[in-house]
Amino acid sequence: MDAFLVSGPCRISGELAVSGAKNAALPDVAAALLSERPVSLDRLPAVADIRTMKKLLSGMGVTVSGEAPGTVTLDASRIVSTEAPYDLVRTMRASILVLGPLLARFGEARVSLPGGCAIGVRPVDLHIMAFEAMGARIAVEKGYIHAHVSRVGPGRGRLTGATVRFPQVTVTGTENVMLAATLARGVTTIENAAREPEVVDLAALLVSMGARVSGAGTATIVVEGIEALPGSPVPHAVLADRIEAGTYATAAAITGGDVTLRGAREEDLPAFVAALRAAGVDVSADESGLRVSRSGPLRPVDVETAPHPGYPTDLQAQWMALMTQAEGTSRVVETIFENRFLHAAELVRLGANVRVEGHTAFVTGPTRLEGATVTASDLRASAALVLAALVAEGETLVRRIYHLDRGYAAMEEKLSSLGARVARVPG
Ligand code: UD1
Repeated sequence: MDAFLVSGPCRISGELAVSGAKNAALPDVAAALLSERPVSLDRLPAVADIRTMKKLLSGMGVTVSGEAPGTVTLDASRIVSTEAPYDLVRTMRASILVLGPLLARFGEARVSLPGGCAIGVRPVDLHIMAFEAMGARIAVEKGYIHAHVSRVGPGRGRLTGATVRFPQVTVTGTENVMLAATLARGVTTIENAAREPEVVDLAALLVSMGARVSGAGTATIVVEGIEALPGSPVPHAVLADRIEAGTYATAAAITGGDVTLRGAREEDLPAFVAALRAAGVDVSADESGLRVSRSGPLRPVDVETAPHPGYPTDLQAQWMALMTQAEGTSRVVETIFENRFLHAAELVRLGANVRVEGHTAFVTGPTRLEGATVTASDLRASAALVLAALVAEGETLVRRIYHLDRGYAAMEEKLSSLGARVARVPG
């Protein structure tokens, strides 16, 4: 298993091109299942989750050509299977995103239940509820979700447009219903929809493929279903990854560095950028990206995760790492996921002062961090450990980097290009 060996402390500076967003690319790839025509995507990130998604679609008969981060073309004209097997789904919960497109285009799908993960139970009941409202019959048997739509007349069984009101904001749930609704009979209205930029990116792709989607980016999305998607003549450029950008922005902030993030947009990260500024970090935006630097002391700033445009849960662990260097006590509240503080104990192993009480972590700084061996527990927790390691004295070995590779493209190369000393080693 790979590990990162980080030698600290360091100060990072320079310029970085932000990769395509993993969380936009995943539904974008799933969208290819909707059409008989090829779909081309530019700037797919070269990360493990995208490789898993491509493997999932290949197994269904989709022809995939091109390599990330170049242009990748997905041709779903000859589907041989409508099943997402356990072996792939268990490694990536977002596999559930194939359920909507398969059900909409073929009237049936079998998708393994994702099962548990380190950051909590994360059920898919809201996805199932929505598809039932659209006329699907769903049974869960032997760990698989079996979904089908009964036929009326010739051809496939077709979903029916419905009003889907999510009792809780769900990002992939919103995306799954958008995907399915494009080929449903009639109009689907999604209420309390996720407003994340990744949802907006998916809507833009669907519209370019000929779908009728409006309202993405607001809490109400309306999709007018059509019989078949005519396909898109031009490649769709995947949105820049705001979580990757936020992670490197935090790296600049924690090391007292100065980094320009090409492709990053302030409007995708309003609460995070506000928190950075409140902490004494300089953030300036121009059309090419965001510049993040710090020369003064770090102030403690409380954050509480919330659906977009609130503070993103995917930048919560990184904030905790940053606050270990702030002068005073800050509160980090996690409201989206249970059990998303696994990084706290590992940060403490590096010398941080973090106390967790339920959904709140209290971080008191500044603390002098010292290199140690730590173990990554999930994707964003891994990033937090690397950030802390950048300012720790001596060598830190961050184990189980495979979590990090799921969502960050070549992090060791990107950090090294900015002057950090990070090496991928066996461990
Ligand atoms: C997506 C992101 C993930 C991010 C999360 C929250 C992708 C591929 N992943 O995950 O990086 O951390 O949004 O911003 O885009 N829930 C249910 N039942 C459901 C669905 C969700 O109870 O059927 C709960 C979840 O357990 C969680 C909350 O709703 O507590 C929000 O989860 P959701 O927005 O669905 O997260 P994902 O879409 O899986």
